[in-house]
Amino acid sequence: MDLDGKVALVTGGSLGIGTEISLDLARNGADVALTFRRHEKEAKAVVEQIKAMGRKTQEYKVDVSDFGAVQKLVKQVIDEFGHMDILISNAGMNWDGVIWKMTEEQWDAVINVDLKGTFNFIRAVAPTFREQKSGKIVNITSINGLRGKFGQTNYSAAKAGAIGLTKTVAKELGKYSVNVNAVAPGMILTDMFKELSEEFKQKAAEETVFNRLGQPEDIAHLVSFLCSEKAKHITGEVIKVDGGQYI
Ligand SMILES: NC(=O)c1ccc[n+]([C@@H]2O[C@H](COP(=O)([O-])OP(=O)(O)OC[C@H]3O[C@@H](n4cnc5c(N)ncnc54)[C@H](OP(=O)(O)O)[C@@H]3O)[C@@H](O)[C@H]2O)c1
Repeated sequence: MDLDGKVALVTGGSLGIGTEISLDLARNGADVALTFRRHEKEAKAVVEQIKAMGRKTQEYKVDVSDFGAVQKLVKQVIDEFGHMDILISNAGMNWDGVIWKMTEEQWDAVINVDLKGTFNFIRAVAPTFREQKSGKIVNITSINGLRGKFGQTNYSAAKAGAIGLTKTVAKELGKYSVNVNAVAPGMILTDMFKELSEEFKQKAAEETVFNRLGQPEDIAHLVSFLCSEKAKHITGEVIKVDGGQYI
């Protein structure tokens, strides 16, 4: 994939899927700005790997749910990198609980990060992408935003909301040659699931047709493709990467 000269901003690049997306975009030629909130050491380690590939890169601390901070950050990245071509809204969290026990705090936290965080970044890059008549946006959602998941009303609602957001922004920015897509992973082995039991992971693996769980690079390869000119006629899509877990 030829992403030479492109500038990408990846949210939540400090861990898991966001780290692998950042590395793969860089391997394909892009300069990469990545964000973190708590894992600064990990974010800096990703930046070092990207520097070793000869790309321009920098880590930025931001809470994706803070509208004002995100607008400021995007402006700073554009100033420092000179332009922006790619936004990957990947940062996310879960805080599970069945509906009869879910607190307002749990609901708000997940909606604010997983849904509002995606809005905050798209809102910040949209004027630039519209003006330059180009841009690629990829939102990392989840198969649980498509099918629902026991114990995840907040997370499933946020991820479903991000799908509606993706399709609407695809329509609004289409005439400015901006592609907007969503990737919906099934269960991928990252820190997000480090506390789950082996039994739970085995059950999730058995839901796939391959009897295995996905890896972060399974998501990253699709994201790099969606950001390339090879995917120029794909927009408003939600592409599952789940080993058939959904079917
Ligand atoms: N893993 C899966 O099975 C799976 C399946 C479907 C969808 N997804 C989605 O894929 C994305 C990445 O998941 P992952 O498994 O790689 O998760 P992860 O390992 O827990 O990493 C989450 C990333 O999001 C960042 N983040 C969380 N809250 C933030 C906030 N308020 N402000 C800024 N950054 C924040 C974290 O930054 P810090 O740690 O630096 O704070 C971290 O970089 C998420 O949107 C997730 O919902 C994952």
